[in-house]
Amino acid sequence: MERLGNDLQRQNVTHPPSEIILVAGARPNFVKLAPLYHELCHRLERFRPIILHTGQHYDAQMSDVFFRELDLPEPHIFLGVGSGSHAEQTARIMLGVEETLTNRKPALVVVFGDVNSTLAATITAAKLNVPVAHVEAGLRSFDRSMPEEINRLVADALGDLLLTPSRDADRNLLSEGVAPEKIVMVGNIMIDTLVRFMPRAEESTVIRDLGLTSGRYALMTMHRPGNVDHAHTIETLVRIIDELTATHPVVFPAHPRTRKNLLAMGGRAAELMNGARANLIVTEPLGYFDFLKLQKESGVTLTDSGGVQEETTFLGVPCLTLRPNTERPVTITHGSNHLIGLDSVAAIEHARRFLDAPRRSYATPPLWDGRAASRIVDAFERFLFVTPHATFVDTQSDRRRVDAMSALMDTPNELSHTR
Ligand code: UD1
Ligand code: UDP
Repeated sequence: MERLGNDLQRQNVTHPPSEIILVAGARPNFVKLAPLYHELCHRLERFRPIILHTGQHYDAQMSDVFFRELDLPEPHIFLGVGSGSHAEQTARIMLGVEETLTNRKPALVVVFGDVNSTLAATITAAKLNVPVAHVEAGLRSFDRSMPEEINRLVADALGDLLLTPSRDADRNLLSEGVAPEKIVMVGNIMIDTLVRFMPRAEESTVIRDLGLTSGRYALMTMHRPGNVDHAHTIETLVRIIDELTATHPVVFPAHPRTRKNLLAMGGRAAELMNGARANLIVTEPLGYFDFLKLQKESGVTLTDSGGVQEETTFLGVPCLTLRPNTERPVTITHGSNHLIGLDSVAAIEHARRFLDAPRRSYATPPLWDGRAASRIVDAFERFLFVTPHATFVDTQSDRRRVDAMSALMDTPNELSHTR
């Protein structure tokens, strides 16, 4: 911060506060946005942060609860796009973002993670030549059947400032040919929220309210289309729940997609959602504090969530990821995550093993330390005020571009020598 201040003084740069639009739409976005908003509010002499909520998620327990618990104001702009097919939802977000950016002309748009709101805002800003910073850049599952992988690829291809949580993400971007100067490893911003709000989560009475014993229950979340949109995968999920609840309590805060699909499936899936199993506690999506407390005290967490793989890693809680791949390999190499696929035999065996054994300790990945937001805002300062970037078009950079193009064409650019 001090060094940046000196850089700015040396260049004698004074600016009115730069407007930064933070775009969020879905539950995990709000958890990532909160620390960045708070950090920008500490530097109001430089920045004016504006929260744009697309309305991709809209139920109170998928949206409002996070604004309330994470000390966020009401969104400054709310697009209210709601649910729809990918194309419908993306198009509605693009229209709203385009109008906002055209009217407000911000200095920077910030997008988070890998949801449709991320994709839509990135494309729209890029077309309007508004610089885009992508928080949580570089993650790859290498599985393009996941909508999130498409969203990540687009956000990173078009983003101007790519803020990564881990070295593997840097490597992915470099191997895709991204210019190294666009990449800044800042650590994991979700962990900032966890660190800041853990004392509030510790006050949650959820364990007692649900009649649970610390370390003796499993926590489960599922919402990936690959797991909950097909009859055969729902059947596997039902088998896991039925078998595991024979020996241990399972808490299952059901995502709206999952609840809808399991009820629509009928049979045993619907029975479970309707309370047929005493040892299965199905809840609405929980607020952040209750959910964090449940993660921390669980004997094992079974999930297909990206954020939950990260939070359990930080908390040192054994996590079974019921997916064939993860875009977050550092949670396995440095953390408590185990990739097992949607495999009922492995899920039951490993879950029981963790539930019945004392918890061991795990390492924490580098820079997952609660200070990612501060590093991100430092990167914004360098990007906007110190380092010239492509949107500040000047004759120097135009000349460099002409030279670079000539080099690509393998022809000397004779004119450039005469200038
Ligand atoms: C979205 C993200 C996913 C992320 C997840 C976090 C995309 C493509 N997917 O998935 O990457 O992991 O959010 O939770 O962006 N619904 C409600 N109420 C709500 C929101 C959704 O009832 O507040 C229901 C609707 O029936 C909707 C369905 O859930 O059609 C799916 O919502 P959607 O936002 O399309 O995708 P998610 O599965 O939530
Ligand atoms: N979360 C929550 N309540 C819940 C389930 C999850 O507060 O009932 C939080 C969780 O702690 C994490 C984030 O939501 O911070 C993860 O979001 P989600 O799993 O929906 O999305 P993903 O990370 O998979 O994109």
